[in-house]
Amino acid sequence: MHRVAIFASGAGSNAKKIIEYFSHNEQVKISLVVCNKPGAGVLAIAEQAGIPSLLIEKDPFFRGDAYTGELKKRGIDFIVLAGFLWKIPDLLIKAYPNKIVNIHPALLPKYGGKGMYGSFVHAAVISNKDEESGITIHFVDEQYDHGDVIFQARCKVDPSDTPDSLAQKIHQLEHQHFPRVIGEVLQSN
Ligand code: GRF
Repeated sequence: MHRVAIFASGAGSNAKKIIEYFSHNEQVKISLVVCNKPGAGVLAIAEQAGIPSLLIEKDPFFRGDAYTGELKKRGIDFIVLAGFLWKIPDLLIKAYPNKIVNIHPALLPKYGGKGMYGSFVHAAVISNKDEESGITIHFVDEQYDHGDVIFQARCKVDPSDTPDSLAQKIHQLEHQHFPRVIGEVLQSN
């Protein structure tokens, strides 16, 4: 059985879909929610689902063991980044080789990198008058939004779209595909 930790910093709509998707799965257990933002919506989602959460701090994450000891102690063997805004330290990537996946709200390699998250991404897509956007699910490596791409899905960008309306389209794609793609990666793992 896989024991999965979800890392998130925000509202947690993806975390909620992933938790629901695996709630009756005997091979995959969402065992922990890791958050770096006190009061983030994802913490309430974890509590409602009866899943333990771990509020992490910058110093041990970037200058300590990146919580690898705590994660291993809890038997975590796979990590999902669902709107987690801190860069993953090399120590954690080495402790979980090809076992950390991220979702990015754009069609990488476009609109990726430091500072490219949430509405900043959607505003850039719209200001560049792109006709399509989408989501990218990828393995995490030492560079922001860079690792091997596992899956992409696209949506049309209408001339009337705003960053908010585009964000809604993107969230729909994420909720539709992310849990299933995680399941497929875990099956082959
Ligand atoms: C998602 O759009 C994801 O692609 C991005 O952060 C957002 C998190 O949304 N990395 P939520 O917290 O899951 O609602």
